[in-house]
Amino acid sequence: MTLPSDKGGAGLSAADYDAFCRFLRERTGLSFTEAKRYFVDRRVTERMAAVGVEHVRQYLNLLRFQASGEELQLLVNRMTVNETYFFREMYQLDCLVNAALDEVVSGRAPGSRVRIWSAGCATGEEPYSIAITLLERWNRVDDFEIELYASDIDSHVLARAREGIYEQRSLQAMPRDLIAKYFTRLDDQTWQIMEELRDSIDFSLVNIADPQQMANFRGIDVIFCRNLLIYFDDLGRREAASMFYDALSPNGFVCLGHSESMSRMSSLFVPRRFPDAILYQKPQS
Ligand SMILES: C[S@@+](CC[C@H](N)C(=O)[O-])C[C@H]1O[C@@H](n2cnc3c(N)ncnc32)[C@H](O)[C@@H]1O
Repeated sequence: MTLPSDKGGAGLSAADYDAFCRFLRERTGLSFTEAKRYFVDRRVTERMAAVGVEHVRQYLNLLRFQASGEELQLLVNRMTVNETYFFREMYQLDCLVNAALDEVVSGRAPGSRVRIWSAGCATGEEPYSIAITLLERWNRVDDFEIELYASDIDSHVLARAREGIYEQRSLQAMPRDLIAKYFTRLDDQTWQIMEELRDSIDFSLVNIADPQQMANFRGIDVIFCRNLLIYFDDLGRREAASMFYDALSPNGFVCLGHSESMSRMSSLFVPRRFPDAILYQKPQS
């Protein structure tokens, strides 16, 4: 008898679908429910065809044991949702420059470091929006050594972030004068962000569900992790919150997307209600 899972491209059996979801959850934190079956099925069968593997179990073994991890990366790149745009959820950037950063630097000597991290930066619109907002609107921007980190699990979007080329759709919420100031027009449809800004952000491939990779981040003052944890389950969110806690300096802040609430994930942080937004703060001790 041939089980459905034995046929390449014929769709995953219930058991194979479960095995895949468990594997992806464990490696990436991404949690796929039954409702995502079509999405997962399509991408897995597509990748199986691309590498010429017929049996689902064989493909799972390739993902598990391939020394380079290349196929896992390619599959992960197909599994992520990378929707983003410039000045998304602007109220948080307002909050950053109107209140949060002044609090972060209070008591620090001029010239000291301020570290901001966009975790799950997709194609880069978020970290570039942070950089532009700081340059335009934080009156102490020249007093401190600002380090901007940006990371994502998807190597393809990271490459695009580093390149910094965007179409109109990404730039819709950006005032025209700022586009003129920070971008070069390449043609009718595309603009590239200026080299100084591209060089000012440290982009890296980081899986926020991996404790080893997360341990590289310490002493961060503000973490933006917006519209990412919605793809995790409760346990994954709690674990991510705890790793963000370790990565932050005392009094540092986490900014989440508008539909996400830290209070439902973790009790480690204190919700801080500023006039523009609610941020989550790591207590002093
Ligand atoms: C919807 S985008 C959000 C982009 C941006 N933060 C925003 O709010 O506009 C979510 C991003 O999270 C990334 N992502 C998903 N799982 C991740 C993980 N385990 N580690 C790091 N990034 C992840 C995806 O690749 C995707 O680019």
